Amino acid sequence: MDVKERAALELEEVRRRSLSLVDPVPDADLLAQHSPIMSPLVWDLAHVGNFEEIWLLRTIAGLPAKDPALDDIYDAFRHARRERTRLKLLDPAQSRAYIADVRGRVLDTLEKIELNPANPLLADGYVYGMVIQHEHQHDETMLATLQLRVGEYPVVEPAPAVAEPVAAKEVRVPGGCFVMGTSTEPWAYDNERPSHEVELDPFWIDTVPVSNRDYLGFLEAGGYDDGRWWSERGWAHRHEAGLEHPQFWKKDGSGWSRIRFGRQEPLPPDEPVQHVCWFEAEAYARWAGKRLPTEAEWERAASWDPVAGSKRRYPWGDTDPSPALANLDQQYFRPSPVGAYAQGASPAGCRQMIGDVWEWTSSDFLAYPGSTGFPYKEYSEVFYGKDYKVLRGGSWATHPSAVRNTFRNWDHPIRRQIFCGFRCARSV
Ligand code: AVJ
Ligand code: FE
Repeated sequence: MDVKERAALELEEVRRRSLSLVDPVPDADLLAQHSPIMSPLVWDLAHVGNFEEIWLLRTIAGLPAKDPALDDIYDAFRHARRERTRLKLLDPAQSRAYIADVRGRVLDTLEKIELNPANPLLADGYVYGMVIQHEHQHDETMLATLQLRVGEYPVVEPAPAVAEPVAAKEVRVPGGCFVMGTSTEPWAYDNERPSHEVELDPFWIDTVPVSNRDYLGFLEAGGYDDGRWWSERGWAHRHEAGLEHPQFWKKDGSGWSRIRFGRQEPLPPDEPVQHVCWFEAEAYARWAGKRLPTEAEWERAASWDPVAGSKRRYPWGDTDPSPALANLDQQYFRPSPVGAYAQGASPAGCRQMIGDVWEWTSSDFLAYPGSTGFPYKEYSEVFYGKDYKVLRGGSWATHPSAVRNTFRNWDHPIRRQIFCGFRCARSV
């Protein structure tokens, strides 16, 4: 299949996903603010169309803007999420019509576009991959909003993946020179580039993410009330925000339950813990006598193949993700039990590094040496610095085309509405 055929198919696939996510939601709920930290769902929907119009119709095909006022409304930097319901948003029907119109014209112009390798936007169809990944990212954001919304949302419930016991809870990873990031991955974002050498000391890393059972151990040992485990900022945040357990957990008699897409259910002990902020992850790790891995350690443990002497695209190799290898793509609306996907393990022996839950690392979101803001500095550059921590590996809600071993996600250390968890590491 050539690049354009593949782009057309993937554009269609992601749109089917976006529409299927909002279809069960009544119009009033699409327009509502479900949380001050999230956009109204209808904003995300039209924003992906506006992004597509800007890049594929205006920048690439040279067409004029249909309605320049939309650029202001759907520019993520001009209006905070909490203010977006007050904008003159397209309503749900208008939003669906707008994104369908943009898409129709994108497919019309696709035939005439020349995939010129001398133009970095068009080489390997980069800009199409960027627009496709962008819509997938907003689909995951919309799912986080739907999880925050009050009211039942339909979820799919296939038979769960089966956990297989791991030989060891942690593995020792040798130190040495490691080449982090990528210069060859065609659809990598600017923040994953360029590849560059880092020097690593040997370290231990957990073979599976921290489970609800593990995390409950910390909670029941009084971890939320013991300042020894928390950093100064974490302890202050724990008090200001009144943190006493992960988001969406509920004390239920003698046990715990959780709210998942509007339904209360018993807390599954074997699932990776979800919806903890970076400060909670940091406190748990200290309580456990460990720490969070750096993102270089995470990537080393996920990608290095000592036999081939090279890095893998995914922990299991270079073949595309599949349901036997990883929990991605909203096949379940939940993480799979820790120890699942033995076939998807990295050469180091770590499971579930791709899929299930985004994993907090100890690292700030910083530019790699020599990186350039491409193709627009608002994707990554404006976020670099100490305000954001890096997460790796994708979640059950992430589409396979929007994650790989080198992919970097980031968020504020207080955030926990995303589908995030963590695994621990320790120095040798
Ligand atoms: C990579 C998930 C942090 O949602 O802010 C979407 C992705 N960038 N539109 C975000 C993104 C522009 C980004 N994250
Ligand atoms: Fe966006």
